[in-house]
Amino acid sequence: MSTSPKIRVQGLWKHFGTTVALQDVNLDIEENAFVTLVGASGCGKSTLLRTLAGLEHRSAGTLLCDGQPIEGPGADRAMVFQHYSLYPWLTVLENIRFSRQLKVHTQDRTAADVEAAAGRADALLRLMGLTHVARHYPSQLSGGMQQRVAIARALMSRPQVLLMDEPFGALDAQTREVMHDLILHVHRLERSTIVFVTHDVEEALYLGRQVVLMAPRPGRIDTVYQVPLPAERQQDMKLAPAFNELKREVLARIRATSGMQTDFELLAKLSQAGSLDLTE
Ligand SMILES: Nc1ncnc2c1ncn2[C@@H]1O[C@H](COP(=O)(O)OP(=O)(O)OP(=O)(O)O)[C@@H](O)[C@H]1O
Ligand SMILES: [Mg+2]
Repeated sequence: MSTSPKIRVQGLWKHFGTTVALQDVNLDIEENAFVTLVGASGCGKSTLLRTLAGLEHRSAGTLLCDGQPIEGPGADRAMVFQHYSLYPWLTVLENIRFSRQLKVHTQDRTAADVEAAAGRADALLRLMGLTHVARHYPSQLSGGMQQRVAIARALMSRPQVLLMDEPFGALDAQTREVMHDLILHVHRLERSTIVFVTHDVEEALYLGRQVVLMAPRPGRIDTVYQVPLPAERQQDMKLAPAFNELKREVLARIRATSGMQTDFELLAKLSQAGSLDLTE
């Protein structure tokens, strides 16, 4: 018996003027999947994610979440950006509660609603290890802490789909490892469907059960890899031969599709010539 996917992308095109940011993208994402998107700069990763978030209009094609067309942002889909985008004038706790407040203001707000929201905010603070900084302002926190606040805020409305665009790109390597295990924990706990964009192939393979490699000019899906690791990830799995073999394969494919070869040739010529004058 086949069940319908959580997200279905069919024949998706996105143009920005003459730029083809997405060319005929087709992708099914199952419920509770963890899918990572990698590919050379400009291949349309952010555009695909923003279109799924409903922040960007499509030029053509079909986008479904639970079988319903995606026509704009929705509480069922939350986005986390690379730059923490917290409100600097609100405390950690207020930042986390903020999206929820926006939502309940437009609806009838009951005491039970407010209590449930407070309970969830507290639980998220604990999960993210932020309880001790609940009353601090974002400027008083490290980058890793700020990003944990941003994730907690995204989780506040219990989104079924979490869309993350290079959320750990600005963090140092050690903090990133901690964040990786945290987000895997969140994925297990909340049973959410996660689509995660990254430049970092190791991060893509460690987090994703499926890695979607995109290629630029025009932006398109090139290859979809299944990651041959147990679902329950552990840091030392990065040392496994199968992990490193796939990492090499994905890196080589990104290089081959990036259109950067000519630049390397130019660089080689430059070093041989010993000067910037390339006239023969
Ligand atoms: N708002 C916009 N207006 C015009 N062109 C855009 C816009 N957003 C994206 N593009 C173009 O669409 C293409 C895909 O961009 P996108 O930001 O999705 O790439 P990306 O894969 O996320 O790149 P990076 O890895 O550098 O973040 C690029 O050629 C980019 O210049
Ligand atoms: Mg991007």
